[in-house]
Amino acid sequence: MTLASEMTVGLDRERVRSMIAREAAALDERTKASAEMYERARRSLSGGVASSYQARDPWPIYLTTGEGAVVHDVDGNRMWDFHNGFGSMVQGHAHPAIVRAVRERVALGTHFAATTEDGVIVAEELQRRWGLARWRFVNSGSEATMDAIRIARALTGRETIVKIFGSYHGHHDGVMVSIGVPYEDIGDRENYASLPYGAGIPRAVSDLTIPVPFNDAGAMERRIQRLEREGRRPACVIMEAAMMNLGIVLPEPGYLQEVREITRRHGIVLIFDEVKTGLAIAAGGASERFGVMPDMVTLAKTLGGGLPSGAIGASEEVMRVVEDGSVYQVGTYNGNPLGMAAARASLQEVLTPAAYEHLDALNERIVGGCQAVVECYRLPGYAVGVGAKGCVTFSPQRIVDYETFKAHQDVEITELAWLFNMNRGIFMTPGREEEWTLSVTHTDEAVDAYVRVFEEMAAELVG
Ligand SMILES: Cc1ncc(COP(=O)(O)O)c(C=O)c1O
Repeated sequence: MTLASEMTVGLDRERVRSMIAREAAALDERTKASAEMYERARRSLSGGVASSYQARDPWPIYLTTGEGAVVHDVDGNRMWDFHNGFGSMVQGHAHPAIVRAVRERVALGTHFAATTEDGVIVAEELQRRWGLARWRFVNSGSEATMDAIRIARALTGRETIVKIFGSYHGHHDGVMVSIGVPYEDIGDRENYASLPYGAGIPRAVSDLTIPVPFNDAGAMERRIQRLEREGRRPACVIMEAAMMNLGIVLPEPGYLQEVREITRRHGIVLIFDEVKTGLAIAAGGASERFGVMPDMVTLAKTLGGGLPSGAIGASEEVMRVVEDGSVYQVGTYNGNPLGMAAARASLQEVLTPAAYEHLDALNERIVGGCQAVVECYRLPGYAVGVGAKGCVTFSPQRIVDYETFKAHQDVEITELAWLFNMNRGIFMTPGREEEWTLSVTHTDEAVDAYVRVFEEMAAELVG
């Protein structure tokens, strides 16, 4: 990888800023109907959106339809979709198998709060893929991580939990901690601070969550040992096997194995939060891809083919606290028939071994194409990806954790890349932390379009 700063060009910041201004104006011009929708929406929907992560200045982009790898917005712009519902739509939009399953199910009744056979079949298939013995369903990634942590606490009788600094695990109080915070507040690496992410999170709750750096097993074990000395041995370590909200940060060789050994040695439940990785980077998610088996996994996003759903998988021993009734793992919509019908069709007919071969080949093509552009134009950055997911990280140094991300990611180029894409028919996830998600319906044509637009930007940037 050509990352040494002497190998890369220095970027003309004036040019970068003038390109951002030009692209922002062009995007305003082509999204007038979104602007109108925003004016209407914000009178009833707070901020004009259903989730704060959908908000954007000066207005959000409102979508109408999606088919395969393509989406349309309210202005009629047609775009290749690399956003894919924050990484949920690995099946592509309106996949015929999922449309058929949902259509058939909707006429048979959509909700009973009683388990249907589809739910059993989905659990059997997840059991087969992950090799974890017992499963439960929820409706989102946040619910999955919330319940998984509660199960770990019940099993161990402990309250403290450990997470990775900078990782997002959903919007409940216990994990909205030590992410997206100012660099100067994070504290020293051996003793990172537990910082609430946004208002309304009780200090008493955030203090129970202890952040440690990614890709540093030594720092994790030392922090665990200190917690033990303080009588606060953690119930669990919850982490993504590959971080997917700093762009993509892959685990260094051996890191996950070390984490597995540390958690085992200290009797701590290891939870892989596979809300982003699960079903997107391999049939059996990160656990399969990196060959490390946690005690629990959490799934959501890709599971339901666009319907709200999530799952928790664990060993029999861990799920004992659910089965004996000590933990109430509950929810009116858990295992909803419509979501389970979609998940079943997705697992059985869409996310097949051939689908993963296709995703791997496409990702190799887009990562390779982007890396070639980076090298040709000597941009400070690199392309990285795994399975359906990838990104170009604009940074003169390799990002390995939150500290290196905060210190080195080029925020301006990241912003420019998003605007540049949007104006050229590439719908990308907004925000400096995100990555692309491919679907089984993406083709060489789609990923080549992405690389072409990237090259156009690179040429103008250094030209
Ligand atoms: C790793 C991870 N865990 C959990 C969540 C929360 O999922 P949801 O938004 O479905 O609640 C997310 C969402 O992006 C995520 O990336």
